[in-house]
Amino acid sequence: MPETKPPFPPTPSDSGRRLRSRAWFDNPDNPDMTALYLERYLNFGLTREELQSGAPIIGIAQTGSDLSPCNRHHLVLAERLREGIRTAGGIAIEFPVHPIQETGKRPTASIDRNLAYLGLVEVLHGYPLDGVVLTIGCDKTTPACLMAAATVNIPAIALSVGPMLNGWFRGERTGSGTIVWKARQLMAAGEIDYQGFIELVASSAPSTGYCNTMGTASTMNSLAEVLGMQLPGSAAIPAPYRERQQAAYETGKRIVEMVRQDIKPSDILTRDAFLNAIVVNSAIGGSTNAPIHINAIAKHVGVPLTVEDWQTHGLGVPLLVNLQPAGEYLGEDFHRAGGVPAVVAQLIGQGLIREDAPNVNGRTIGENCRDQPIMDSRVILPVDQPLRINAGFVVLRGNLFDAAIMKTSVISEEFRERYLSNPQDPEAFEGKVVVFDGPEDYHHRIDDPALGIDAYTILVIRGTGPIGYPGAAEVVNMRPPAELIKQGVHSLPCIGDGRQSGTSGSPSILNASPEAAVGGGLALLRSGDRVRIDLRRGSADILIPEAELADRRAALDAVGGYPMPPSQTPWQEIQRGLVGQLDEGMVLKPAVKYQRIAQT
Ligand code: FES
Ligand code: MG
Repeated sequence: MPETKPPFPPTPSDSGRRLRSRAWFDNPDNPDMTALYLERYLNFGLTREELQSGAPIIGIAQTGSDLSPCNRHHLVLAERLREGIRTAGGIAIEFPVHPIQETGKRPTASIDRNLAYLGLVEVLHGYPLDGVVLTIGCDKTTPACLMAAATVNIPAIALSVGPMLNGWFRGERTGSGTIVWKARQLMAAGEIDYQGFIELVASSAPSTGYCNTMGTASTMNSLAEVLGMQLPGSAAIPAPYRERQQAAYETGKRIVEMVRQDIKPSDILTRDAFLNAIVVNSAIGGSTNAPIHINAIAKHVGVPLTVEDWQTHGLGVPLLVNLQPAGEYLGEDFHRAGGVPAVVAQLIGQGLIREDAPNVNGRTIGENCRDQPIMDSRVILPVDQPLRINAGFVVLRGNLFDAAIMKTSVISEEFRERYLSNPQDPEAFEGKVVVFDGPEDYHHRIDDPALGIDAYTILVIRGTGPIGYPGAAEVVNMRPPAELIKQGVHSLPCIGDGRQSGTSGSPSILNASPEAAVGGGLALLRSGDRVRIDLRRGSADILIPEAELADRRAALDAVGGYPMPPSQTPWQEIQRGLVGQLDEGMVLKPAVKYQRIAQT
């Protein structure tokens, strides 16, 4: 990292700019407003000398709170951030971001991503901030913050709160999120009771921090580093480690420098940076939520990126990181093995990384990561001995939807043998579907023997997209009926217009767009129909004649389309009217035209 400048008084901005905060705090042309803006920020002890010194005013966008346990440690880290900011000659102003707790918010935290985004845009645009530290962590906090920084485009740096320490139960690693899927199967099979279920699940959360698996949080924090928005090597440091506090201090120092150098998100978030994120997502076994969030960030910064880019640039990338749910280990192990830079270094060796993409530290990703060795090759595998080849997402399309994705790195041997082992047609399977309308319907009926679900049934869930189930529910990975699990069938193929948790190891076909609620093909399916999936051709189709499909569509239109439950809150209704589909990042459509809106 470049050397830090001396503390107060600060050196003038390197770029010779007048910082935007001076329009509030030191504007001789408008003494009335300057006095009014200034006086209230003095009332908790800042001095006029500080606020009028020209020192960069640095926002700390605080996502931690008692309601957000995954990010709560940011309340502690903020102290070290402040010290870093002050050391480098800046003034810290901390403010809250609308909480988004993945596990706590009903009906889904996902609907709050766009709400937190909107709120943060207003704050960054409307207050005297020259730069901002984005305190990222739990799944949606990372995209919400990065989307807002992209829209407003003031200098911004992200600080991950870090994963929890490894969870353990009876000598085995228990990964947060992922253990729930296993515990459900154990309980469905009668091997543990309610008490045992809770104990097993709770063992996976032994400390402050976010999910220790490679779920959406670890994925998005890793990708925020790959995108260049946080300091190299900092994403994977576990929350309680001393290096996490040290990273907070360095981050605080660095954002002040970035303001002086006028390094903005639009300088960092280039198309090359996004393509690197796609590549690394495959190599880490990243979450199926990543395309939604990464595409949303790209949309807000104005970089073209499509769901097809994920297959084109990501599918052929090998899986190198042996973390649950695709592998065995957890977040502490990932950090000790070298974290994101060690993965990037391996991929650089194969020419898979665009090395010139910049990082907030002022260097390129190539310069930052090229020489990072693997410290534990059980956790991060060398690129010539990967866990899997072709570990990215397949993008599927057909008469069921225009786009859906499937995470190939979590296709189990059991799954491959049952569905993908026909030598004539090794990458295709077909089967009869059983259709559920939303998660309540699924939970109510999954164990009903009358459905006739067998080892070759394809489970479909619809009404779970951004509009049908506001925010899109994480429900597509459906466990088979308990009777089948007892017979050793641990997963069935699943298709849905919702999402699935990044901590799930299910090879579901998900994020189907358009969703049933806006007339997507899933709305036309009936239980008993046959569906064919061909991974090599990238197709997913209902096997019924076109004329029959047209009749069904006419019948659906005649009753006013696929039924939706009423909105429960004002925001649900507002978002339903404005939101796009999952393949387009589920962004608020009118928001996208507001780009680089920061004014002085
Ligand atoms: Fe917050 Fe997993 S629930 S990071
Ligand atoms: Mg989730």
